[in-house]
Amino acid sequence: MSPIETERLILRRFAADDAAAMRAVLCDPEVMRFSLLGTMAADAVDGWVVAQRDNPQLADGLGRRAIELRATGAVIGFVGLGDGPSPREPGDAELGYRLARRHWGRGYATEATRAVVDYGLSILKLPRILGLVDPQNRASVHVLRKIGMTYVRPVMLDGYDHADHLFARTQRDRARRRDG
Ligand SMILES: CC(C)(COP(=O)(O)OP(=O)(O)OC[C@H]1O[C@@H](n2cnc3c(N)ncnc32)[C@H](O)[C@@H]1OP(=O)(O)O)[C@@H](O)C(=O)NCCC(=O)NCCS
Repeated sequence: MSPIETERLILRRFAADDAAAMRAVLCDPEVMRFSLLGTMAADAVDGWVVAQRDNPQLADGLGRRAIELRATGAVIGFVGLGDGPSPREPGDAELGYRLARRHWGRGYATEATRAVVDYGLSILKLPRILGLVDPQNRASVHVLRKIGMTYVRPVMLDGYDHADHLFARTQRDRARRRDG
């Protein structure tokens, strides 16, 4: 799996020593506020990082990638395409992302998700990329809209007391953007 490079970021395969940086993401209640399972136990993060590193889907360009800042080499979160709870049709992949709180508000999520969605549509030729978001998560909804994803419908997942919102970007959206 090759890294994806953007102006400020390198989206690359996880390494075992990224666990310390990922604790600032996966163990922070504010970051995990909209995740059904909530925060991860600190001692589970090493295993999570190794599982991402060894994910066989990486061979197909899917799976979660570490988001590394080019300027400092710091790992600030993850982004990726793969399985998720959203209702999918064959070939669909779901976009996922989380950033450490101290790095919010600088456009990094927009930069990382845009690059991964472009990669999924233009290089992997996926028919459709989905994003599933709690509508109360205003920042995340805004990120999805900024990268050209459009609202599809509400989705009620097991264990939730209100519907998430399903967003998507398709090959047709991409062609339209290119022509327009
Ligand atoms: C959602 C998240 C990824 C955003 O990361 P980020 O790097 O701060 O995002 P960006 O800076 O690229 O863009 C955020 C946008 O939302 C806007 N925003 C932030 N808080 C907002 C709010 N409460 N209401 C509306 N818009 C908001 C920002 O102004 C920015 O838009 P702008 O560039 O037009 O000004 C980050 O907050 C996060 O990891 N949250 C927890 C996990 C999560 O929710 N993941 C997504 C699950 S679907």
